Amino acid sequence: MKTIIEPFRIKAVEPIRMTTPAQRDAILRAAKFNPFLIPARDVLIDLLTDSGASAMSSDQWAGIMRGDESYAGSESFFALRRVVEDLTGFTNILPTHQGRASERILFELIGGPGKVVPSNAHFDTTRANIEHSGARAINLPIPQASRPRDRHPFKGDMDVAALETLIRAEGTANIPAVMMTVTNNTSGGQPVSLANLRAVREVCTRHGLPLILDACRFAENAWFIRTREPAFVDRPVRDIARAMFDLADGVTISAKKDGLVNIGGLLLIRDHALFQRACNLLILTEGFVTYGGLAGRDLEAMAQGFREVVDEDYLSYRIRSVEYLGQKLLDAGVQIIEPPGGHAIYIDAAHFAPHIPPEQYPGQAVVCGLYRAAGIRACEIGSVMAGPHRRPEMELVRLALPRRAYTQSHYDYVAEACAELFTRRRELRGLRILEAPDVLRHFTATFEEL
Ligand code: F0G
Repeated sequence: MKTIIEPFRIKAVEPIRMTTPAQRDAILRAAKFNPFLIPARDVLIDLLTDSGASAMSSDQWAGIMRGDESYAGSESFFALRRVVEDLTGFTNILPTHQGRASERILFELIGGPGKVVPSNAHFDTTRANIEHSGARAINLPIPQASRPRDRHPFKGDMDVAALETLIRAEGTANIPAVMMTVTNNTSGGQPVSLANLRAVREVCTRHGLPLILDACRFAENAWFIRTREPAFVDRPVRDIARAMFDLADGVTISAKKDGLVNIGGLLLIRDHALFQRACNLLILTEGFVTYGGLAGRDLEAMAQGFREVVDEDYLSYRIRSVEYLGQKLLDAGVQIIEPPGGHAIYIDAAHFAPHIPPEQYPGQAVVCGLYRAAGIRACEIGSVMAGPHRRPEMELVRLALPRRAYTQSHYDYVAEACAELFTRRRELRGLRILEAPDVLRHFTATFEEL
């Protein structure tokens, strides 16, 4: 059969509240043209993020009932540790409430003024935590990453030659670790090849530097390796994931993505002394080492989520859903980052609305257009998010796909809305910022239409 079906049936449903274009126009104005300020009940299809928005399975819900809420030594922690150890090979495992809590602890330990942390591309919160420690966060993507039409199979890779140059310029003493984000969210949810991970590991080993994985979307990355990297075609996803983890000295994970849960994270550290220091910091702000800021039931749901996410029928459906939506947009003439990534479609807003200059936020205009026309909530990743002092390489709109939450007909609706808006794109209007904070302004900025 050619049709790839959702590999689940639906046991509980959550109604979507329908709205009219006139109602949405009023809601958008009341939210001052910022989708983060729209109440979720007024959204038809929420593609703001894939983070924490997954539908849990019946086994995860069963785990919620089983959760052991003991302060210390919870049975649910041991269940989680067994699953994570089996998947990653790491034995030093800390639960945290989400990815950025893991990042905060790690960079409080290894960051600091004068230090430099290179990556294929840091996610915003990783960069913010590195900078908060006084260190600098440097992105070293391959050049293909900033060319929307370039169909390089592993556009998330790091520029290894640039890493060597950076190490020579900064000196190993100032580089506490090299990071790799899999998949690379910043460059379009694009995967990193095992060949590239191994090349980066080789450089790290030669210079005595630790390698840290930001592995939020490790299973999606492993699926791309299985389907695109000749040496690994048809190898089991679990083995590929293990090969990725085996290269790392430490791992931060937001379980809100490939952990298939609504809240949760992990910090994995190979070095025992560093792990002990991380335990002490965790206790300071997150809680005891066997719950890390979560309830016992959250640990159970996470353990089961990590079991389910490496299921190959699930991953095949997951990656195909993203590709399906991407292909429909391409067929309608909408330029996206090609090839489609693992968790989201990124629309090239400069191509969509060429009559709106960057100073008038073309990405935000497309986001507002999609909401008004169809009640779809997307997210600008361009001049608004970059802030007042940085010119982004691309003006993008991200349609992030929550895991297992929407069906093919929802994505048909999204594709139809994008195609329809594209035919009357000249009607889109630029925006002016009314009020905005200096950092992370996209969350709270207010706008007016020009
Ligand atoms: N690293 C990556 C690559 C991420 O995409 C995220 C979150 C984090 C770390 C932080 O994890 O939210 O659990 O603290 N990304 C979400 C997104 C918010 O919409 O892309 P967190």
